[in-house]
Amino acid sequence: MEIIHITAECYPVAKAGGLGDVVGALPKYQCKAGHIAKVIMPMYRTAFLYASEWTVDFKGQANLGNWHFDFTIIKEKYNKLGFDLFLVDINGLLDRQKIYGYGDDTERFVAFQIAVVTWMKSWEHRPDIVHCHDYHTGLVPFFMQHCYDFQQLAGIKTIFTIHNAQYQGWMGWEKSRYIPRWDLWKRGMLEWAHSINPLASAVKCAYRVTTVSHSYLQELTSHSNGLEALFEYEKGKCVGILNGIDNEVWNPATDSYLSFHYTAKSVNAGKEQNKALLCSRFGLDPQKPLIVFIGRLVGEKAAELLPDAIAGAIHEMGHAASYLVLGSGEHDVEGRLTDMLMPFSGQFNAVIGYDEGLSHLMYAGADFLLMPSRVEPCGLNQLYAMRYGTVPIVRSTGGLRDTVSDMGDPEGFGIRFNQASVSDIIYSIGRAVHVYQSKDHLTRMRNWMMAIDHSWENTVEQFTRIYQA
Ligand code: ADP
Ligand code: GLC
Repeated sequence: MEIIHITAECYPVAKAGGLGDVVGALPKYQCKAGHIAKVIMPMYRTAFLYASEWTVDFKGQANLGNWHFDFTIIKEKYNKLGFDLFLVDINGLLDRQKIYGYGDDTERFVAFQIAVVTWMKSWEHRPDIVHCHDYHTGLVPFFMQHCYDFQQLAGIKTIFTIHNAQYQGWMGWEKSRYIPRWDLWKRGMLEWAHSINPLASAVKCAYRVTTVSHSYLQELTSHSNGLEALFEYEKGKCVGILNGIDNEVWNPATDSYLSFHYTAKSVNAGKEQNKALLCSRFGLDPQKPLIVFIGRLVGEKAAELLPDAIAGAIHEMGHAASYLVLGSGEHDVEGRLTDMLMPFSGQFNAVIGYDEGLSHLMYAGADFLLMPSRVEPCGLNQLYAMRYGTVPIVRSTGGLRDTVSDMGDPEGFGIRFNQASVSDIIYSIGRAVHVYQSKDHLTRMRNWMMAIDHSWENTVEQFTRIYQA
């Protein structure tokens, strides 16, 4: 089958979180399975853009309301990523350094989607599947079915994958002028709660909707930032498919970011070497269990609990563990973590920012990875941690519930807790400190985790069945 993935992120081209990892890997493994998978995304000014060679695939014109714009679609020349990669260049709108966070993100992503459907319309053939990811591409199914200019595309089956339903792309009806000439009787297919809601529109218009874990799909009918009734109504077309991980990128035996490689057999020695490096870099004691957090410092990740939980654990247990945080996000949380650097120096350190290489070293060198998430549709961090023999400490929610078992269970390898609260986190850190002293138990857990297969091959098969249906 020919599958076109439309996305705002794709690793290593541009990544802000797990969406990038997923769209950087799924098409590659679909191609390996014999499909023709392609990715189209905005052309941001990222290192990958300048480090690669491109050919012009298409030049077109379109309108966003009254604004007439030219766009160019470029294609990566050498199939570096294992699939055809196309970027949409809209001068002044998409060619910026960051992926998100601009005042005109609505205009940027709507124009991107218009350019993509205009490009697809120009083809002589039709792809089998158009696979859209998250709200930035959520208007595409509507455009293909209900906009007069794209009627040729109406027969193509669309799949929408929800990586995160918290962000929905709401826009007021005054912006309906951005939508290319459409059948006004179909207003209901754009609307939710008196505004245009691209995520809701995609759930209504796509042929099938997938989410990135089973538990998250169930949670959406009770917690989905206002869309609960919609998910209840549409549940017949929704399926939970757990993400895979790219074992070629995330492999402690070959990881290009690591100086010390290891396998399940050499896990204790390998982790010790990586931990020593990490601890010397961040002024931490390598004899103590090392607990890390990697991720966006936002409410969904319960990141605002970290300062109190870490300070509280140090007060209650003394210097029983070391803590290292890597992340960026809400300024208040960043500030509170930075304020802790001096008073807790030697026990705690933090890097505010995004650092791909450091994240790999942290998965390899840490003993425990903390994820107190309030919402976690799938979560890749815990899957990477497991592959690197790092024990996940997680709140039981979404994909965390589906992938991490508690060490109290037979062959359990993680630490689970129920509430996103400071006291639950401190209690779980206490359990981590305790199990760290039992080296045999820790080694067994490391071996169990590292043997679990979360490779993409299995997931690709599940998507193929959905496409075929
Ligand atoms: P989400 O997509 O909700 O942020 P995921 O767990 O699915 O969460 O994926 C997060 C991805 O982003 C992982 O690959 C993680 O290692 C990476 N990541 C998050 N924050 C940082 C950071 N500050 N530096 C480096 N990598 C990060
Ligand atoms: C989202 C979710 C995360 C998931 C990722 C990839 O960013 O927050 O839980 O792992 O998408 O699907």
